[in-house]
Amino acid sequence: MVAPGRVNLIGEHTDYNEGFVLPIAVDRYLCVAARGRSDRTVKIVAADFNDSDEFGLDNVQRDEQANWRNYPRGVAWVIQQNGIELKGIDAVVASDIPIGAGLSSSAAIEVGFALTFLHFVQVDVPRPTLAQWCQLAEHKFAGVQCGIMDQMIVLLGKENHALLLDCRDLSHQLVPLPSGIVFVVADTGVPRSLAASEYNIRRRQCEEAVRWLSETLGRPIRSLRDVTIEELGQVFNEMPEPIRRRARHVVTENNRVLDFQQAMREGALKRAGYLLLASHASLRDDYEVSCRELDAMVNALMSVDGVYGARLTGAGFGGACLAMVREEALPKVLEEVPKRYAEELGQNAPEPNLFAVRVSGGAWIESL
Ligand code: GLA
Repeated sequence: MVAPGRVNLIGEHTDYNEGFVLPIAVDRYLCVAARGRSDRTVKIVAADFNDSDEFGLDNVQRDEQANWRNYPRGVAWVIQQNGIELKGIDAVVASDIPIGAGLSSSAAIEVGFALTFLHFVQVDVPRPTLAQWCQLAEHKFAGVQCGIMDQMIVLLGKENHALLLDCRDLSHQLVPLPSGIVFVVADTGVPRSLAASEYNIRRRQCEEAVRWLSETLGRPIRSLRDVTIEELGQVFNEMPEPIRRRARHVVTENNRVLDFQQAMREGALKRAGYLLLASHASLRDDYEVSCRELDAMVNALMSVDGVYGARLTGAGFGGACLAMVREEALPKVLEEVPKRYAEELGQNAPEPNLFAVRVSGGAWIESL
């Protein structure tokens, strides 16, 4: 079983507001090698952590010692909650998706084990449904109230395409990507330490914004997806802080996703680059999920010729930036950006890690 990492091109913190996102699956992978057992025991070796886990399928519980264990456990729990009785497996998992960089190693491990477990009982679950199950596993077992983007792209990605996903009803379209550009991941080297707690706070603030807007606009609003920029503008001055800026980010970001996918289809690269930068500014100033290192990385990237645009990608609070780069400019970017990042941050700058990604397909099973 092979599950890719993902990078979100644009549409950040919109998924749990029933908005739009545009992620790609990338050529960094998590692999699960497994064989079936005749009992209901699951044994997993995590090669990268030099660690292992063992649990029974009759009473799957959270593990308080090592967080990675909660992903396979969580998906085993959720699949069985949906009435599918699983069989035990022996498995080894290894991955080259960097952890904590915003490439969603968590969705990859969820999807990886979900497909592995289902393979051994020969049950086919539609991929969008499976994405929702994996999301629930993350809520219940890993404690992050994540949206649906990561699991959807890991399951439904396609080579050389981005996935335009409407998180309200999970309808989706593949968006062909223009040639001549390459996407670069620029990991700041700062782990996303606050991600889980601050993430959940942002989610609550959006819910608060929805309540306030429903009352003030005098009509039922289900999510920030239902609010236009004009409507928000009318009440913006009366709306309390910080929820008005949180709302402004989500409402404007949804529009940027739709503009960006159109720009990709038309090959309008400058326009697309501008939208990436606008997204970063909104995440930094209105949503407040950036940090010094992410801002420095965007500056460093933009200082090199041939970079169309850059922004933080994933939840924020550390992790990585994404940049859209003219193909010929790639060597220069990889050489220059780490130096300029160090200059921007001065002494004690963390070690960055830059790499170009290829747009991969979604998770697949390889049987021997
Ligand atoms: C994390 C979550 C996603 C999404 C992003 C922010 O990656 O898992 O669901 O909310 O943050 O866009």
